[in-house]
Amino acid sequence: MIANLKYRIIKKVVHNSGVVELGFDAPEIADYGLPGQFVNIQVSEKLPHPFLRRPISIHDITVNGEVCFLIKKVGTGTKMICDSEIGDELSLIGPSGKPFTMPNANCTPVLIAGGIGIAPIYFLLNRLLNEGFEPLLFYGAGTSSEILKKKELISSCKVYFATDDGSFAKQGMVSELLPQHIFENSGEFCFYACGPQPMFKSLAPFMKSHNFPCEISAEENMACGIGACYGCSLKTKDGYKRVCKDGPIFELSDIFEEQ
Ligand SMILES: Cc1cc2nc3c(=O)[nH]c(=O)nc-3n(C[C@H](O)[C@H](O)[C@H](O)COP(=O)(O)OP(=O)(O)OC[C@H]3O[C@@H](n4cnc5c(N)ncnc54)[C@H](O)[C@@H]3O)c2cc1C
Ligand code: FES
Repeated sequence: MIANLKYRIIKKVVHNSGVVELGFDAPEIADYGLPGQFVNIQVSEKLPHPFLRRPISIHDITVNGEVCFLIKKVGTGTKMICDSEIGDELSLIGPSGKPFTMPNANCTPVLIAGGIGIAPIYFLLNRLLNEGFEPLLFYGAGTSSEILKKKELISSCKVYFATDDGSFAKQGMVSELLPQHIFENSGEFCFYACGPQPMFKSLAPFMKSHNFPCEISAEENMACGIGACYGCSLKTKDGYKRVCKDGPIFELSDIFEEQ
C-alpha cells in the first residue's frame, strides 16, 4: 500500500555537516515500509519553490510508528525540507520502490555505507539485527565529524570505518577495507551498499572477482516518482530501468561493469 497524506513532524535532530533527521507520525508508512524503500517528500505547496518532490530513503521505523529520514542539505529542496520544524506537516508519498532482499539464514550480511548512504543502511542493519543476523558494517565518510551515529553503530555490530582525510580510522575509500577485512570472517556473504557512484564503481571488481551478490540503492533525479514518466531511467545490462519503480535496489553487476 502506498500512502499519499500529510504527516506531522514529531522529531528533529540536527547532525553535523548539514544533515538533519526528521521523524514523522506516519502510521500508514510505518506499517508497510521496508529497508531500501523511499518516500517522496513534498518540498513546498507554494510556487515558484521546487515543484517536484524529493525522494528520501526510509532511515528508521520505530516501534511507536515514527518514520525517520536522514537528509543531507545539497540544494534548495533538501534545504527547505530540513528547515521544517516539529509540528509542521509535509505531504509524503510512500513507501515506494523495491526493498532490499533479506538474506538466507546461513548468510552473513555485509553492509557498506558511504556518506549519507548510511540512511537506508541503518534501517536495514536494525531489521537484520532484529531477525537474529550478525551483520558486518563498512562505513566511510569524508571526515571524522561526518560519521553519523558512531557510538550506536559500534555498540550494535562489528563496524569497519574509513575517512577520506584519515581523521578517524583508516584513510581512504571504504571499499578498500573489504579485501583486507572480509576474510577475517568466515562463511557465506551477501552484500548491501548505498553511497556515491565512485564507491559503487570501486566495489564492482571485488564483487565480480569473488562472485559475491551485492545489492545497491541507486539514485537518479525523479519527476513523478511512481513509474509513469521514465524520468529516472537508469541504464542496466537488461536495458533502461526506472529507479523509482524497478529500483531503487538493483544488483551492482547489472549496473556497474568491472572497469
Ligand atoms: C531513491 C533515493 C533515495 C534517496 N535517499 C536519500 C536520503 O535518505 N537522504 C538524502 O539526504 N538524500 C537522499 N537521496 C538524494 C536526494 O533525493 C537528493 O539529494 C535531492 O533530491 C536533491 O534535491 P535538492 O533540491 O536539495 O538539490 P538539487 O537542487 O536537485 O541539486 C542541488 C545540487 O546537489 C546535487 N545533488 C543532487 N542530488 C544529489 C545527491 N544525491 N548527492 C549529492 N549531490 C546531489 C545536484 O547535482 C546539484 O548540484 C535519495 C535519492 C534517491 C533517488
Ligand atoms: S520518476 Fe517518473 S518513472 Fe521514475
